[in-house]
Amino acid sequence: MADERAQILDLAVRLARRAGEVQRDRYESRLDIQTKSSSIDLVTEVDKICEALIVEGIRDERPGDSILAEEGGGEEKSDSEWRWIIDPLDGTVNYAHGLPRFCVSIGVERAGVREVGVVYEPLLGELFHATRGSGAFLGERRLSVSPTERIGEALVATGFSYDVHTSSADNLSQLSAMLKTARGIRRDGSAALDLCYVAAGRFDAYWEFKLHPWDVAAGLLIVAEAGGLATDLEGAPAPASGKAVVASNGRLHEAILRILRGSSTDPKPDS
Ligand code: IPD
Ligand code: CA
Ligand code: CA
Repeated sequence: MADERAQILDLAVRLARRAGEVQRDRYESRLDIQTKSSSIDLVTEVDKICEALIVEGIRDERPGDSILAEEGGGEEKSDSEWRWIIDPLDGTVNYAHGLPRFCVSIGVERAGVREVGVVYEPLLGELFHATRGSGAFLGERRLSVSPTERIGEALVATGFSYDVHTSSADNLSQLSAMLKTARGIRRDGSAALDLCYVAAGRFDAYWEFKLHPWDVAAGLLIVAEAGGLATDLEGAPAPASGKAVVASNGRLHEAILRILRGSSTDPKPDS
């Protein structure tokens, strides 16, 4: 199994780099942009090209594996042990606007257990990866979450779902509570990178609701392997569906959960 996992990691890295090259080549070029679930949920031809090349690469080398891919190009197989979960371009709104914050995310699970995660950010050339039990890495450097213990010293990221114009479950009360407590808030526009940044200690925490499996499949493993914690709002392990994700360095977790649930009893950061 160890050998097979190493082969899978190698394939995931090669495919993420290949898709990332396409993203870099087409960055800031004229794009064909369409909408999906709402007027702010975008897809470009680069999302589709990247997904096709990743799916084809998996089918060539591992034809028996299941594939769940955001743009629908995958195929689930009931008898397969391994399952690939792919976000070919995470941060499409950024990409469509020429904002340099997007990535390829590939997670692989075996019988429902996360085994391999790869996230590639092509402009900076940053490759995050993890395998279960073997740590998380940025390139060759082993990652560990930040040592921050005080919420008033924490840089925290979040995001908003594509139904934010119409849904009352819009994350705004949580945003306002966190803004009044943490050192700073960021909305970078790529859930997979947000999770990797928690793993790298760049963010102390990140939360978002209504994500999808492809947004979190790689990032949750990378956070866990960097020593971080990822749960839902109640403190149970973050669901693979991506429905609710609260990721942190662990030390801040209880405080973050309390703030998001609207019952912070923490002292003010300056007290
Ligand atoms: C989106 C990004 C964004 C998050 C959205 C996701 P996409 O993924 O990760 O940061 O806030 O909820 O859907 O559509 O760019 O792959
Ligand atoms: Ca995504
Ligand atoms: Ca995407």
